Amino acid sequence: MKRWSVGVRLATMALMAMITVPAPAAGVGRDLHDYWDGRCKDCHGDAGPFARRTLRVEQGRLVGTHHGADLEQFLRNHYLADELVAPVMQMLQAQATASPLFKDKCGECHGSASEFARKALTLRDGVLVGRASQRPVQDYLRRHGGLAPEQVGPMVKTLERVLGEVGAKP
Ligand code: HEC
Ligand code: HEC
Repeated sequence: MKRWSVGVRLATMALMAMITVPAPAAGVGRDLHDYWDGRCKDCHGDAGPFARRTLRVEQGRLVGTHHGADLEQFLRNHYLADELVAPVMQMLQAQATASPLFKDKCGECHGSASEFARKALTLRDGVLVGRASQRPVQDYLRRHGGLAPEQVGPMVKTLERVLGEVGAKP
């Protein structure tokens, strides 16, 4: 009787573990910038400059100076947890193609985009807002930061992406 109930308890626990631990959507909720800083930065420096220097996108596909078609395979055997290969490649791809506008125009006061996003930004009903001002970044940047009007939209997009990359949940 006792044995049986232990068995049932174990089975129940196993079942609950299966139910309550959903397979995490790759990388969601992870701070990829923090991960990079902890595991990759010693050898490669900051992710953005590394991506712009060594990686490019060819036919929609991320390729490296040393590793082209096999880049994904290479990364699976290169310090990266398997489930982070795709999200890290996505981050590097965005960085490889983005202009370093934040670094040039905002970095002097705000540090790196990832630090700034972690500290100062959040999403409210899907809109990117500043934590302190509680104002949409889109509006804020009309009179702050010295961007040309046509640079505001892309900057907001960049900061939204980075906020996602540092693990913020919508
Ligand atoms: C101990 C040093 C070291 C660490 C840590 C390291 N790398 Fe590397 N990485 C290298 C070296 C050296 C190369 C080039 C070697 C080669 O081509 O086989 C490389 C190549 C790469 C490339 C391909 C570049 C190209 O030109 O094709 C990518 C992308 C990359 N690393 C990403 C990462 C990521 C992401 C991490 C962290 C999860 C990481 N690396 C951690 C040393 C390191
Ligand atoms: C000369 C320094 C400086 C530069 C350059 C600068 N900022 Fe700021 N930023 C500040 C300060 C200081 C604040 C805090 C609020 C204030 O005093 O205006 C701020 C506030 C903000 C806020 C609101 C944060 C919140 O919590 O509500 C956003 C968004 C912002 N900056 C984005 C940017 C962006 C994007 C750029 C580059 C295009 C930029 N800033 C360039 C100094 C700067």
